[in-house]
Amino acid sequence: MHKLRRKKMHKLIRLFLICASVSVLFGSLSALAQVDRSLEGDQKCTLCHNESWSTPILTIYQTKHGVKADERTPGCQSCHGASASHLGDPTTKPDVVFGAKSKNISSAVERNASCLTCHESSVRARSHWAGSQHERHGVACTDCHEAHAVKQKVLDPVTQPQVCAKCHKAEDAQIHRFSRHPILEGKVPCSSCHNVHGSDGPKLLIKESVNETCYTCHAEKRGPFLWEHAPVVDDCTNCHTPHGSNFSPLLKMRSPMLCQSCHSGDHAKNLYSGANLPNGDVTTAIGQIPLGSQSPAAQGNGRSCLACHSTIHGSNHPAGAKFQR
Ligand code: HEC
Ligand code: HEC
Ligand code: HEC
Ligand code: HEC
Ligand code: HEC
Ligand code: HEC
Ligand code: HEC
Ligand code: HEC
Ligand code: HEC
Ligand code: HEC
Repeated sequence: MHKLRRKKMHKLIRLFLICASVSVLFGSLSALAQVDRSLEGDQKCTLCHNESWSTPILTIYQTKHGVKADERTPGCQSCHGASASHLGDPTTKPDVVFGAKSKNISSAVERNASCLTCHESSVRARSHWAGSQHERHGVACTDCHEAHAVKQKVLDPVTQPQVCAKCHKAEDAQIHRFSRHPILEGKVPCSSCHNVHGSDGPKLLIKESVNETCYTCHAEKRGPFLWEHAPVVDDCTNCHTPHGSNFSPLLKMRSPMLCQSCHSGDHAKNLYSGANLPNGDVTTAIGQIPLGSQSPAAQGNGRSCLACHSTIHGSNHPAGAKFQR
């Protein structure tokens, strides 16, 4: 009983704290919304932070954040906060500092709050951000986005993977492998499969499943097929890896091993077994390999299950039950 009351009490306190912090947040957000966003308003800051500053600052006027004719456009203080103390004494820090190299860098939550004043709902909404893998792990908008650069690396398909590579080393290694999507060429950027701002699907995928994501470009693999191959319908990554592989085309393993990882019956288990085949021997049945030849090269040819099972993604042929046509 006593325990229960205490639990309730804690709940109430927590609720109160949440309400209090939310109202503080809203307070500071509305304070941000009230800043003078005009060019004149910016002059409070550009008095010092102008062409002479060590890094380009005024370049922001060449970006979407500099279109002053658009009344939704931020001013310096929309992102950096009113920064009253900094205006009085420039050796004190502004309210919100983004610079990755600055010792005064604000927390991810503070930095994100300033972007989200506009981007949570009113301007190009990032509605799935809250609770997303990136948000939960303390990644900030400005870990990927730049504000003062005329050209943002992350928005250019060719340079985008470099931004992700700062944190995702494994995927960066994969996209340099022998068999891969044309990611480095900018034809299939990371963001063509992932919505890094949050998604309903697993692994931040743009669709609710791996297959639906793949079908956005490989529609022909969806079928419908008269004869479906169960692992294809289930998940393309049963056989493929999306980022890159040493086995073409984007396979997790070489073909006989790949098939054998699931099939172990009859001739499937042994490359030279003719079990349940009309001609009695896999290698002779393909007709490419002289009987008895065991040279590695010859084996390489003979080994391909795909030589006979060529419609591995599904077949619409009346006699295609074993994916041979
Ligand atoms: C009187 C000149 C002056 C004005 C006005 C001024 N700043 Fe600064 N600001 C500075 C100086 C000097 C520094 C470098 C301070 C240091 O390195 O210790 C600085 C640093 C900064 C930094 C980098 C902070 C860091 O720790 O990396 C930001 C961001 C910044 N200012 C934004 C603003 C904004 C926004 C305004 C307008 C609200 C503004 N400043 C107005 C002089 C000024
Ligand atoms: C005061 C409102 C406001 C704030 C604060 C704000 N933005 Fe924006 N943002 C805009 C507007 C307006 C646009 C232009 C939208 C359009 O063209 O549809 C924009 C566009 C963008 C774009 C698209 C750029 C492009 O070239 O297509 C990105 C990315 C972006 N903002 C990121 C951010 C980030 C990151 C922050 C925080 C550091 C931020 N914004 C803070 C209003 C804001
Ligand atoms: C992990 C890197 C990453 C993070 C973190 C990130 N973004 Fe983005 N953002 C991108 C990429 C990549 C694109 C371009 C492709 C796309 O739209 O998905 C983009 C596009 C945008 C756009 C313009 C395109 C559009 O859809 O209108 C806006 C606005 C934007 N981001 C705002 C934000 C805000 C606000 C945050 C923080 C709450 C944020 N981003 C966090 C990588 C990121
Ligand atoms: C859309 C949000 C946004 C707006 C608007 C904005 N900034 Fe920034 N500012 C940033 C971000 C993010 C950085 C970190 C560097 C980068 O991404 O370019 C930054 C960095 C800075 C720096 C530090 C640069 C350094 O020396 O490392 C200064 C100074 C600065 N801003 C001043 C200004 C001034 C002055 C204005 C108005 C003309 C302004 N900012 C408008 C987001 C913004
Ligand atoms: C500042 C570091 C950082 C950057 C930059 C970054 N990420 Fe992430 N990313 C993380 C962290 C941390 C996680 C969560 C932990 C994890 O799953 O590795 C994550 C998670 C993910 C996930 C989900 C993984 C899962 O298991 O659900 C995907 C997909 C992803 N990031 C893609 C991207 C893409 C694409 C980019 C570039 C546009 C990018 N990230 C840029 C740090 C980053
Ligand atoms: C062709 C679609 C596609 C592209 C392009 C793509 N991914 Fe993925 N990514 C996936 C799929 C599907 C998964 C989930 C299945 C898996 O983990 O193999 C995934 C998983 C991930 C994960 C989670 C890995 C894990 O171990 O859980 C990260 C991180 C990631 N991708 C980052 C990236 C980055 C960074 C890029 C760009 C360099 C990128 N992806 C490009 C489809 C793609
Ligand atoms: C944004 C579009 C897009 C998406 C989404 C996509 N792909 Fe691709 N895929 C391509 C392009 C483009 C190629 C290269 C075609 C070419 O070179 O002719 C390709 C090639 C391939 C190849 C052949 C690679 C080779 O070496 O020949 C495989 C296998 C593949 N994709 C599997 C997948 C899988 C599995 C998924 C889902 C995880 C997926 N793709 C999602 C666009 C996409
Ligand atoms: C049972 C294993 C397996 C599964 C599951 C699978 N594939 Fe494949 N896929 C292969 C093999 C093996 C090849 C090579 C075929 C060849 O060389 O003739 C291939 C080739 C491809 C190719 C390139 C050649 C072509 O046919 O266009 C694409 C694209 C592709 N697969 C996409 C997909 C997609 C999308 C899915 C999920 C819907 C998927 N695959 C599921 C085994 C599989
Ligand atoms: C992830 C596991 C998996 C992989 C990998 C896989 N398969 Fe299958 N395969 C299955 C399942 C499950 C069935 C359906 C079995 C059933 O209905 O009894 C099937 C069915 C088949 C059938 C039809 C069998 C029948 O009895 O009608 C053939 C032929 C076949 N697969 C060949 C292959 C070949 C060739 C490969 C390699 C390219 C391969 N499979 C890779 C799981 C897999
Ligand atoms: C020489 C052509 C050929 C090669 C090579 C071949 N198969 Fe078959 N496979 C067949 C034929 C024909 C059938 C249908 C037999 C039947 O109808 O009873 C079949 C049937 C199957 C079946 C269905 C099992 C059954 O009893 O019906 C599976 C699973 C299978 N093959 C897997 C494989 C795997 C895995 C490989 C590679 C190690 C492979 N096959 C190589 C021709 C071949």
